[in-house]
Amino acid sequence: NILKLSALFTLFSGGSEPRLVKAATEQLNKLPFYHSFWNRTTKPSLDLANDVLNMFTAREMGKVFFANSGSEANDSQVKLVWYYNNAMGRPDKKKFIARSKSYHGSTLISASLSGLPALHQKFDLPAPFVLHTDCPHYWRFHLPDETEEEFSTRLANNLENLILKEGPETVVPHQKVNCSCAM
Ligand SMILES: Cc1ncc(COP(=O)(O)O)c(C=O)c1O
Repeated sequence: NILKLSALFTLFSGGSEPRLVKAATEQLNKLPFYHSFWNRTTKPSLDLANDVLNMFTAREMGKVFFANSGSEANDSQVKLVWYYNNAMGRPDKKKFIARSKSYHGSTLISASLSGLPALHQKFDLPAPFVLHTDCPHYWRFHLPDETEEEFSTRLANNLENLILKEGPETVVPHQKVNCSCAM
C-alpha cells in the first residue's frame, strides 16, 4: 500500500503556521538535511514513518517510503511494481492503465500516467507502457439517452476490451493506494 501526498494538498497547512515554523526551525538547528541512501535514516523520519503507520489503520501497511513530491512518489510506485514483477519472473507485466483527464504529476512517468494532452504534447509522452481509458464523468461524457448504469457498463466494457487487446499478462492490476495526496 502506498500513501501519497501531493504538494498541492500540503498547502492546506498554510504558509506560516507557527507550530510548523517552530518545528522546522528546531530541526534546522539540529540537522538541516540528511539523505536516505544505503539504508540511512534519521530519527524524525523514523518517528514520522511510525506515525503514518499508526494513523492509517483501515489497511495495515508495513513500510513507509518517503518521496519529495507526489510526482516522485508515483514514479517510485511504478519502479517498485516493475521491480516486483521482474523479481516474480513476470518481466512483461509492466503496462499501466490510467484515466483520461486524471492528474498524477509532472515527471516523465507521472505526466505519462496523467490523462491530460497538455502534459503530453511536445514532450513525447505518454511513455509507451502507459495506456488511457475513459474518464468516468457521467455528466460530461454520457451518450444521448444513456443512463448512468449503461454509461458505467460501457466504460467497464471498454476497460476490459483494452486489457484483453493488450494482453492481461502485460497489464499491472489496479494499485491499492490508501490516500492520493506529497510529503
Ligand atoms: C492525485 C495526485 N497525484 C500526484 C500529484 C502530484 O504531486 P506533486 O505536485 O507533489 O508532484 C497530485 C498533485 O496535485 C495529485 O493530485
